[in-house]
Amino acid sequence: MLKIIRALTAVTSLFIAKVHVVSRFFITTPIYYVNDVPHLGHAYTMVSTDSIARWRRLCGEEVFFLTGTDEHGLKIAQAAAENGMSPKQWTDLLSPRFQDAWRKLNISYDDFIRTTETRHYETVQAFLSSVYENGYIYKDIYRGLYCVPCEAYYQESELSDGNCPIHNRPVTVMEEENYFFRLSAFTDRLLEWYEKFPNAVRPLSKRNEALGFIRQGLQDISITRTSIDWGVPVPWDDQHVFYVWYDALINYLTAIDYGRDADRFKAWWPSVHHVIGKDIIRFHCVWWPAMCMAAGIDPPANIFVHGWLLVGGEKMAKSAGNKVDPLELVEDFGLDAVRYYLLRDTNFGSDGDFTYEALTARYNSDLANNLGNLLQRVTTVVANKLDGRAPQPAIDSPLAIFATQALNRAKASWNEFAPQDALEAVWSLIHETNARLEVVAPWKLEPGDELENVLGDALECLRLVCITIYPVMPDTSSEVWARIGLDGSPNHQDALTSFTWGLYRSARTIEKGTPLFPRRK
Ligand code: ME8
Ligand code: MG
Repeated sequence: MLKIIRALTAVTSLFIAKVHVVSRFFITTPIYYVNDVPHLGHAYTMVSTDSIARWRRLCGEEVFFLTGTDEHGLKIAQAAAENGMSPKQWTDLLSPRFQDAWRKLNISYDDFIRTTETRHYETVQAFLSSVYENGYIYKDIYRGLYCVPCEAYYQESELSDGNCPIHNRPVTVMEEENYFFRLSAFTDRLLEWYEKFPNAVRPLSKRNEALGFIRQGLQDISITRTSIDWGVPVPWDDQHVFYVWYDALINYLTAIDYGRDADRFKAWWPSVHHVIGKDIIRFHCVWWPAMCMAAGIDPPANIFVHGWLLVGGEKMAKSAGNKVDPLELVEDFGLDAVRYYLLRDTNFGSDGDFTYEALTARYNSDLANNLGNLLQRVTTVVANKLDGRAPQPAIDSPLAIFATQALNRAKASWNEFAPQDALEAVWSLIHETNARLEVVAPWKLEPGDELENVLGDALECLRLVCITIYPVMPDTSSEVWARIGLDGSPNHQDALTSFTWGLYRSARTIEKGTPLFPRRK
């Protein structure tokens, strides 16, 4: 009998293992122009996307996080010339600067694409050959007003006082024989797509902006150049290279082997999550879905548009002279403080102003006085009054309901691409835990149930905090985890199952450590 039960159990678990499907999560950032090194605005996109990718991994999903560098086009060719180098030499020098910055910011990307790689040429040529064969590309003469920093043509009516509306500087008159993409053929199909998928582009204000472009009526766009040769060659006409935006958008398909491995492509497309800044809405929310339709594939399922990091009300930009170096900030404040500030201070989707004062204030109030202080108090009292033996949380703790609510809010916020709300929820729990410590004042209690309960509860709160802040502050989270006597890493927990009040247990001795976030002047 026992044998039969064992055999049955084995078969059942085999069956369960087979049908258990790990859900996939494909998330991308824009690929950055390598005309200069990255600034805090780029870091903002990266840290935000990184935190969402880390959250999904924590939830047990199979994540594919893609970023890279955009290396073709006039802007790059000009930057190379100004520095006395060939475009290839220049991009080989600059692309590693991005990789280096992302390593120092602890960005957990899975693939880094350079648009000068062979795999990218193959995918671009395969994709655009399909668009060509499907009849959506034709040849004509183009005359237009071009902004080099944008790498885009503008209509007269779109200029502000004759200047580019984004860079506020003069545009150039360009005339060339070009291939054109019949974007005009997609106006109705795009409107239908937006209607069918009301959440494809978020937040709503950005979806409306994209719809506004489409409703104005779409014009065909020139997609090749003969004036430069720094680009992907057009497979059916070797006099032309593709216009940089036309090659750049396709990077999202290169990385999942479009045109090379049909199974891998099908596994990841179209349920992608593109994270972009609001400066590139038109390319991602109008052109890109239309290009996909023209090539006969589904448009990307999700596009999340975030706002700009501003300095004194102006967009932080390479061309504006107001850049902040993210690596210098990290040297000064520490990595996790910078990551925390970027996500905590600005609602993801709105613009936010960067100031040293706000960063310092967040550091002192949220990190030093709240999280750091909570850890310090708890470990000190456990070390002093209980010889470092950590007590367990009470199942009927007055904090249990509050903690569960805060965690549910954090979970929902992470799933909604709202890191700011997730962090707000976690800090409400930290705040509440500190407040309880102040009321009960364990540092005045003698060893006994009351002391053990209040400390066990606080340790449990810290355990739950570690898991929820891991996506934003992986190093801090791991450090707190170790200091409260837990083995392994908060990352190895299955967030969904360990998000339950009362699971804190430690067999290790807790020591009083040095402050995690010493106060700053
Ligand atoms: O547009 N605030 O590259 P790019 C917030 N190569 N985010 C900012 C920012 C700021 N002040 N400044 C830049 C390109 N960003 C193209 C993209 S994708 C197929 C091709 C971020 O180097 C934001 O995410 O100009 C923006 O979309 C991106 O950097 C543009 O970087
Ligand atoms: Mg830009």
